[in-house]
Amino acid sequence: MNVVELHHPLITHKLAILRDEKTSTKEFRELVKEISMMLCYEAMKNAALSPVTIHTPLTSLETGMIDTEKYAFVPILRAGMGMLDGVISVIPNAKIGHIGMYRNEKTFEPVNYFFKVPKDIQSREVILLDPMLATGGSAIDAIDLLKEKGVQKIKFLCIIAAPEGLEEVWKKHPDVCIYCAKIDDHLNAQKYIVPGLGDAGDRIFGTK
Ligand code: PRP
Ligand code: URA
Repeated sequence: MNVVELHHPLITHKLAILRDEKTSTKEFRELVKEISMMLCYEAMKNAALSPVTIHTPLTSLETGMIDTEKYAFVPILRAGMGMLDGVISVIPNAKIGHIGMYRNEKTFEPVNYFFKVPKDIQSREVILLDPMLATGGSAIDAIDLLKEKGVQKIKFLCIIAAPEGLEEVWKKHPDVCIYCAKIDDHLNAQKYIVPGLGDAGDRIFGTK
């Protein structure tokens, strides 16, 4: 599958606190931001560099820079918004789109209620953001919507992914690489990720 899982003691440490039911909303938000930054670093590992000449106070050198104007971040509302601060701190010039989705509580199918992306989205690499990839339905529909707009390069950043959802996304969109902090064990009968962290949106926004 087209998946990169972060393996780092700091990720394990931060995920342990994030998952803990006693973790406060404030700390939960801070951890989502920090882990998102690390996911973004990993997703940019093979980014193209353009040659530049830099004059330091001591000398000049030939080095490389990323054209940060070529990227767009698209959080899937609501929970994806929690990841935005972290990734913007890595690529501050990226444009931002929004896709509104929620899961129908009975069918678990995603419902799209909002879609607004930059006009030139087809010429940008899109980094989709959503902390949870459970059945994969929301990710698949969001990728479908972006591809309909002509987007050719998409990466998906999530904090926790379920194996079942990863497989579904792979079947439908094998070209999309998924970067996750952890692949968890399974989905329960309510399609929640186990062990997971509960409802990411509710924990980020303190709605429960
Ligand atoms: C959560 C999560 C994903 C989706 C994942 O959103 O943030 O968008 O569920 O589930 P899936 O892979 O089975 O589609 P939710 O529906 O809880 O909406 P919210 O972000 O507004 O809380
Ligand atoms: N959405 C969440 O927020 N958590 C899950 O475990 C599954 C979907």
